[in-house]
Amino acid sequence: MDFISKEIIDYCLNMSSAESDLLNKINRQTHLNTTQPRMLSGHLQGNFLSILSKLKQPVNALEIGVFTGYSALCIAEGLTQNGSLYCIDNNEETNLIAQNYFNESKFKNNIKLLQGNALDIIPTLKPNFDLVFIDADKKNYINYYNAVFDKVNKGGLIIIDNVLWSGKVITNAKDEETQTLQQLNLLISKDNRVKSQLLPLRDGLFLIVKN
Ligand SMILES: C[S@@+](CC[C@H](N)C(=O)[O-])C[C@H]1O[C@@H](n2cnc3c(N)ncnc32)[C@H](O)[C@@H]1O
Repeated sequence: MDFISKEIIDYCLNMSSAESDLLNKINRQTHLNTTQPRMLSGHLQGNFLSILSKLKQPVNALEIGVFTGYSALCIAEGLTQNGSLYCIDNNEETNLIAQNYFNESKFKNNIKLLQGNALDIIPTLKPNFDLVFIDADKKNYINYYNAVFDKVNKGGLIIIDNVLWSGKVITNAKDEETQTLQQLNLLISKDNRVKSQLLPLRDGLFLIVKN
């Protein structure tokens, strides 16, 4: 969900860097060929992720929740030369699609796509990370935050998507996803190990820097 008017978002997009041909192709083909295209980050958020990554210049980055590879390719734009982006997703079908796009990109040797349940894979990862993007199943968001925290370098950036959950986080909704996101947001707001800002960009993006 967008919390800013479509007209303002369109204006912002028109005044910002255009989508690359590959990202535009992923965006179009995902809308044509998949059942939940709104899971894809898209131009506004993707461009923002790319800028954050270019500022951070990660040696190692991690993405939890890849779908068709759009946000992964945005994050890859900021990797240092020979840097690595580890991507985890448990969907075999969309992983094939994402891997084909990665192969088409100049980052094919930098992106390592790992198939399986993220909570099983995260503890097996050797490197520490300068940037982590969490964008998978919402009910596990607190588990993901806790699982990655010790693997994030000092000054490293954790970005968490959908933390406003279409505005449901300020309602009394009792579903598991809303309640997990409410608890996560509270936990981060009180976490004195980090500097954080929840941004009302798209469906809510939490930016968290480890002290
Ligand atoms: C919102 S989509 C990711 C969108 C992508 N980051 C983008 O912006 O284009 C969420 C993805 O998380 C994956 N996912 C859900 N639960 C998972 C789990 N337990 N382990 C790994 N991946 C999971 C889904 O298969 C789906 O592809």
